[in-house]
Amino acid sequence: MKTKKQKASSSTKGFATITSQDDFPLKNITPHVAPIFTSSTYVYESAEKAQKVFEGKEDAFIYSRWSHPNAELVEKKLEQLETFGLDITAKALVFSSGMAALSALFQSVLKPGDALLAQGNIYGTSVDYFNHYGKEYGIEVIYANFSDIKQLEEILKKNRKVKLMYIETPSNPTIRCYDLATLNTIAKKYGVKTAVDNTFASPYLQQPFKFGIDFILHSSTKYLNGHGTGLSGFVLGKDVSFIKKEVWKIRKLNGTICAPFDAWMLNVGLKTLSLRMEKHCANAQAVANFLLQHKAVSKVNYLGLKTDEGHALAKKQMRNFGGVLSFELKEGYKAGKKLMQKIKLCKLTASLGTIDTLIQHPASMSHYFVPKKQREAFGISDGLIRLSVGIEDAEDIIADLNQAL
Ligand SMILES: Cc1ncc(COP(=O)(O)O)c(C=O)c1O
Repeated sequence: MKTKKQKASSSTKGFATITSQDDFPLKNITPHVAPIFTSSTYVYESAEKAQKVFEGKEDAFIYSRWSHPNAELVEKKLEQLETFGLDITAKALVFSSGMAALSALFQSVLKPGDALLAQGNIYGTSVDYFNHYGKEYGIEVIYANFSDIKQLEEILKKNRKVKLMYIETPSNPTIRCYDLATLNTIAKKYGVKTAVDNTFASPYLQQPFKFGIDFILHSSTKYLNGHGTGLSGFVLGKDVSFIKKEVWKIRKLNGTICAPFDAWMLNVGLKTLSLRMEKHCANAQAVANFLLQHKAVSKVNYLGLKTDEGHALAKKQMRNFGGVLSFELKEGYKAGKKLMQKIKLCKLTASLGTIDTLIQHPASMSHYFVPKKQREAFGISDGLIRLSVGIEDAEDIIADLNQAL
């Protein structure tokens, strides 16, 4: 290979130097679509600028574990979407997954000796996280029925260690709806911060800040990305300085920022969020109507059904009723597994919120490790099926379910 002594005639640099350096002009380029910035660090034009940036006197990127352009772009979008039409500002941080976001919130808000108050019927891994790290960090975790406001008030009155109320609405996988305004009001009465996992609704359908909620969480792996092409999560807060200092510090120290490629895919997905959510909702309504009259089905959990106990509240709190529903099969566990065997168009997989329809049987899949008695207490029966309704033609989804049922 050529060394420095054998220079190419057009360059004063050696072969290895030419291959190693990125000196081509990137200035004056205006790409139509935001590019992916996979650089781990950023270069400064002078020592003076570098010093100012490191001292925090000038705003510029330093190291991609701290922040990078693809992260900042989706953060700015989420800030605008979750505060859309509201007279408030919020700060968003994007993480490598929904669980990384949840863990940063937990670590920044709660200290040893504090307590967390959560619903029992939330995403299984969130329960797993609270139980595991609650014990590890000396944080008590109290589960309650968030529809029973009297009982909640009793808990808050008795237990002044509670510092965070954690709400998931609509809840996974039983699709229950909880009253954000009321929950936030009682939490505030006892000086408790509130957080909402807004994954199932997305900011297009529900804006928790509108009801006074302090923090919003997302698994943006789901509707915000929309295509199942990456993992990511968000924490948003109205206390901008708390998010910038405390939550950001945890993301930096744990190294849980969303990678540039996943943030880029998330941004591509976000472009069609409103269109997708409209179609998800319309299709879910059609599928729910079909399931409701099917003889193999004993119950349909979908907030868009007038018969659903959460219908009136969801109508008040949400723009539309969402794309996920669950239903119970009369014949229980065996029928659930059989249905999983027979479906063709609906994809048998664990996630939700993608443009194609995804189906799963919690008792034999996502909740197989939860003791039967415990899962049944939270409405996850042997015959419960969760369906994340996609944006295909509704007739095709219904035809597939019909042949499988
Ligand atoms: C409601 C909800 N919250 C949080 C999570 C965790 O998100 P992630 O899988 O992106 O870590 C999930 C995942 O399924 C979820 O459904």
